[in-house]
Amino acid sequence: MLLDFTTLAPRDAYPWLIGTITPRPIAWVSTISADGKTNLAPFSFFNGVCARPPTLMFSPVNRSDGTKKDTVRNIEAVPEFVVNLVPFALAEQMSESSASLPYGESEFAQFDIASTPSTRVRPPRVAAAPVAFECVLDRIVPIGDGPLAANVVFGRILLAHVSNAVLGPDGRPDPAKLDLIGRLGGDAYARTREVFTIERPD
Ligand SMILES: Cc1cc2nc3c(=O)[nH]c(=O)nc-3n(C[C@H](O)[C@H](O)[C@H](O)COP(=O)(O)O)c2cc1C
Repeated sequence: MLLDFTTLAPRDAYPWLIGTITPRPIAWVSTISADGKTNLAPFSFFNGVCARPPTLMFSPVNRSDGTKKDTVRNIEAVPEFVVNLVPFALAEQMSESSASLPYGESEFAQFDIASTPSTRVRPPRVAAAPVAFECVLDRIVPIGDGPLAANVVFGRILLAHVSNAVLGPDGRPDPAKLDLIGRLGGDAYARTREVFTIERPD
């Protein structure tokens, strides 16, 4: 089949994007509002960008009514956030936290997700996340406008908390111990436990 993305409606393009560009890592992003209310939400349009300076990105798209998600509103008000990574053990809580709560209501409190203070940024981090990147906002790049248009958030990584329990004997993260999940299409997820290696050419 052939899909012409120049004529597909955005709501029809979306499931093809999320069902084919897989598996995607999940940024579980904690933010805080100007008056100190915390927020937590998952985003799988997410990746690292570069190491000089250490940078990552994730992409909250506008809601179907065209408004910005709470995460974007918070980062515009307080330009700091934490990207927590999601192991299989936290999959259910991560999914619950994608519910749209009224602005100012915290997913941490609503879904009983334990938080702990961050070191250099104001939003707290997810206590049980094996890796948490404390970031300051680099820039927000708008792509398109209206429903499903994006506000791509680039974050400068200041600090990473890495649980000692996920390190291998070489001091690097061991994928089996990290046990992170990836998002597939629809409600499907993948685990990262089947690993193979390929030696790279010089
Ligand atoms: C696994 C997963 C991945 C998601 N990825 C995205 C994404 O990349 N971009 C997006 O806008 N919404 C994504 N969502 C939906 C948001 O999490 C959801 O809209 C959430 O309510 C946004 O919260 P906020 O308004 O508190 O920022 C995802 C949901 C799940 C469960």
